Amino acid sequence: MSREKVTILDLQQMKERGEPITMITAYDYPSGILAEQAGVEMILVGDTLGMVVHGFESTVQVTMEMMILHCAALHRAKGNYFVVGDMPFGSYEIEPRHAVRNAIRLMQEGFVDAVKLEGGREMAATVRAIVDAGISVHGHIGLTPQSVSKLGGFKAQGKTGAAAKKLLDDALALEDAGCFAIVLEAVPDRVAAAITERLRVPTIGIGAGAGCSGQVLVWHDMLGLFDRFTPKFVQKYGDAGQLITDGLSTYVKQVKSGEFPTAAHSFTIKEAEWQNFQRLLNEPDHE
Ligand code: KIV
Repeated sequence: MSREKVTILDLQQMKERGEPITMITAYDYPSGILAEQAGVEMILVGDTLGMVVHGFESTVQVTMEMMILHCAALHRAKGNYFVVGDMPFGSYEIEPRHAVRNAIRLMQEGFVDAVKLEGGREMAATVRAIVDAGISVHGHIGLTPQSVSKLGGFKAQGKTGAAAKKLLDDALALEDAGCFAIVLEAVPDRVAAAITERLRVPTIGIGAGAGCSGQVLVWHDMLGLFDRFTPKFVQKYGDAGQLITDGLSTYVKQVKSGEFPTAAHSFTIKEAEWQNFQRLLNEPDHE
């Protein structure tokens, strides 16, 4: 059964009535189709695609071109979820006008409904500039993978009273600048809940406990498709990696043994045409 397109208004109302929002990362056409069938409300075309799809060590190498390619592929699935596209490292930090130009590209060429960028108060002017250009912005604070080297690694954030207060101030500054939602990544659950209570806009948690307005997980982590490193906060909901390896191994075995393909997978030729072919094979070639 198809549903209406999810809007920012729907997400806001979900927060207000306490209905948890579901978000999942997805990076291409088949994933979009599956996510729509599952009824997910929000898709994040996250720059995690640099790690889980392209095999980079971090998200820092992801470019605008990569983001646009994946956003456009996801768009072709025509799901009714709300789509957020990540602004990659280097696409929004230089100055607000540069950020606005790149956000416009993600909308026009990637067909996203909103863009997401990482950072707190220091990004408020940039968020405001993008929002003023008519583009919805999703914030992201806590563990911000694009600045992982500055943070000293993939570590939980907001673990002291002062750090937790700074996170709250960052969240309030982003809300004030016009963000319609904010990702809280790797933040103690009580801190995330306290931030969520003080914001009007929804929070989407990843490793931030059940007190957020919604949850997001990375597709490849939750479905067993990326085993190089699994954060503590990942719940595995299936082992698609094992399923795919089993299928591929059986395929290799069956081709080697001659079990595949069978007549059922083959095309036929009419007997008369076959005889015609045989006759042509036996005729000497004419110069
Ligand atoms: O890029 C991404 O997938 C993200 C999520 C981890 C929130 O930003």
